[in-house]
Amino acid sequence: MGEQKTEKVFITGGAGFIGSATAKALMDRGNEVVMIDNFNDYYDPQLKRDRISVFLADYTGKFSLYEGDIRDETLLREIFQKEKPEKIIHLAAMAGVRNSLKNPSLYVDVNIVGTVRLLDLAVEYGVKNFVYASSSSVYGNNEKVPFSEEDSVDRPISPYAATKKADELLAHVYSHIHGLPTTGLRFFTVYGPWGRPDMGVFAFIENILNGKPIEVYNHGDMRRNFTYIDDIVSGILVALDTDLPYAIMNIGGDRDEALLDYIAAVEKHTGKTAEKILLPMQPGDVPRTVADISRMRALGWEPKTRIDEGIRNFVEWYRGYFHK
Ligand SMILES: NC(=O)c1ccc[n+]([C@@H]2O[C@H](COP(=O)([O-])OP(=O)(O)OC[C@H]3O[C@@H](n4cnc5c(N)ncnc54)[C@H](O)[C@@H]3O)[C@@H](O)[C@H]2O)c1
Repeated sequence: MGEQKTEKVFITGGAGFIGSATAKALMDRGNEVVMIDNFNDYYDPQLKRDRISVFLADYTGKFSLYEGDIRDETLLREIFQKEKPEKIIHLAAMAGVRNSLKNPSLYVDVNIVGTVRLLDLAVEYGVKNFVYASSSSVYGNNEKVPFSEEDSVDRPISPYAATKKADELLAHVYSHIHGLPTTGLRFFTVYGPWGRPDMGVFAFIENILNGKPIEVYNHGDMRRNFTYIDDIVSGILVALDTDLPYAIMNIGGDRDEALLDYIAAVEKHTGKTAEKILLPMQPGDVPRTVADISRMRALGWEPKTRIDEGIRNFVEWYRGYFHK
C-alpha cells in the first residue's frame, strides 16, 4: 500500500465499528468515500454518531454520508444514480449471534434482502468490485481446525450465521450470472478502539474497569483468532484492490488464543483483576474458531497486531472515550 487511489467507494454500515475504520483508511490513501448507515439502536447509536463526528472529525466534508436503510430501494437507487460508486464495501448488517436467535426475521430481512438489493444495483450500475462481510460463524461447530474456506459450511447454528452463508450463495449467483466480481470476507472476532459494545471482547474491558464481574462462557474453555481492527481494515483494502472474480476469504489473527489469555491481557492493561462468572456454553455460540488464513496471505496480507498491543490500544481508547 502507500499508493494513492482515487476510486469512489460506497461503504454500507459506514458508522459501524469496521465501516468507520475502513472509511478512514480509504480516505487516507486518496479514495472518495460515500457511506450509508441507519444508526439503529442495536447498541448505543451515540457511539455510531461519535465514530462519524469524533473519530472521523478530520475528514468532515471529505465524505458523503446518507442516513437511511439499505432495504430502502428508492434511497439506494438515488445514491447510485447520484454518486456512481466504482466499488462497494458492504458491511451493514444486523450483527450478533445471540441477538439473532431473538429476532431471526429482522436478520433475514436486513442481511439477506438488503444484500440482494445492493447486488442488483451493483450489476445495474456496473460496479467493478463488491466486497462484503461474511463471518467465521458460518463454520458452526466445524470440528476440523483450522477452519478453511474449502470446508463445508452447510450446518450453521444461528440465524445470523445462516444469513451470512446465504449472502455467500447469492454473491456466487451474481458473480456467475452477471460477472460481478464479489469477495466475501469471513471475519474472525474483531476487537479494538471504537469497537462494538455488544461483543464479549468489549464487555470484558468495560466490566473489569467498572469493577463488575464478567461472564465467561463454556467455563472459559474457548479459543479464538482475535483480530485487531487495523488488520481487518488492511485485509478489506487488499480484497478491494484485487478484484477477484469470485472469492471467499478468511480474515483472522494468526494465533489461536485462549479466551482466558485475552482476559489476562485485559487485566494487565487495566491494572485490575477480573471477577469471573463461569457459565455454560450459550446457544448459537461456538467454542473454537480458528482461521486458516493462507488464501489472504497469498494476496500479500498479513495480520500484524499481537493481542498484547491490540488490547493496550483498546483499553487506552476505552478509558479516553468513557473518561474512566
Ligand atoms: N466485529 C466482528 O467481530 C465481526 C465478525 C464477523 C462478521 N462481522 C460483520 O462485519 C460487518 C460489520 O460489523 P461491525 O462489527 O462493524 O458491526 P456494526 O454493528 O458496528 O456495524 C454495522 C453498521 O451497519 C448499520 N446497519 C445495520 N442495519 C442497517 C440497515 N438496514 N441499513 C443501513 N445501515 C444498517 C448499523 O447501524 C451499524 O453502524 C457486519 O456485516 C458484521 O456482521 C463482524
